[in-house]
Amino acid sequence: MDPLGRFKSDRERARSDRDPMANLCTVGHNGTATAEMRTLVLRDVGEDLAIFINSTSPKWSPLSHSVSVLTYWPSIQAQFRILANTSSVAEDFVADSWQLRPDPPKRMDWFYSTVKAQSSRIESREQLLEEVAAVELPDPLVAPQTARGLILSPYLIERLDLSQDNGIHDRMRYEKRGDTWVGTTLVP
Ligand SMILES: Cc1cc2nc3c(=O)[nH]c(=O)nc-3n(C[C@H](O)[C@H](O)[C@H](O)COP(=O)(O)O)c2cc1C
Repeated sequence: MDPLGRFKSDRERARSDRDPMANLCTVGHNGTATAEMRTLVLRDVGEDLAIFINSTSPKWSPLSHSVSVLTYWPSIQAQFRILANTSSVAEDFVADSWQLRPDPPKRMDWFYSTVKAQSSRIESREQLLEEVAAVELPDPLVAPQTARGLILSPYLIERLDLSQDNGIHDRMRYEKRGDTWVGTTLVP
């Protein structure tokens, strides 16, 4: 059983059910004692899963080694918990896909890069809007070096399926050993 294949086919089912959560995940750092969680878009890059963040963010450094990812798709009642190592998305890919972003996030990426890092304190929202409007964008408009993506290489995947007719949930944990996944049934 390939749990990543299962993840992808479950996600396809959630997408075809128009699940608003299908393209999202919750991401934290592995092994941190505090709750460091946030929602991110979970992207498909070829066969891989990936997240896109700005490297000015304090989360860049911990996430650029490893991540823990949680998804829950209410449409199919399936939860996945994934631990993964991360590596950079190819610069060319980031540069091309960055061009597809709407204007405000493009401007924000340049703001993070040239004015204030993401998660910096700022006096007020008014001040933020003023400073963002004043950002000098390059011509031609290209992605800043700080716009980055991380490919996820999962090594532990847990799937919990609540949609059982008998009401007893189906819970499996898969660990990657070399190139193969070894599955274990867990008490749900
Ligand atoms: C639906 C949704 C999607 C988001 N997608 C992203 C994303 O893909 N990349 C990103 O950096 N932040 C994204 N965010 C914002 C993050 O959740 C977070 O607020 C921001 O990155 C600052 O995170 P930090 O302070 O935890 O580092 C998203 C938020 C929501 C609600």
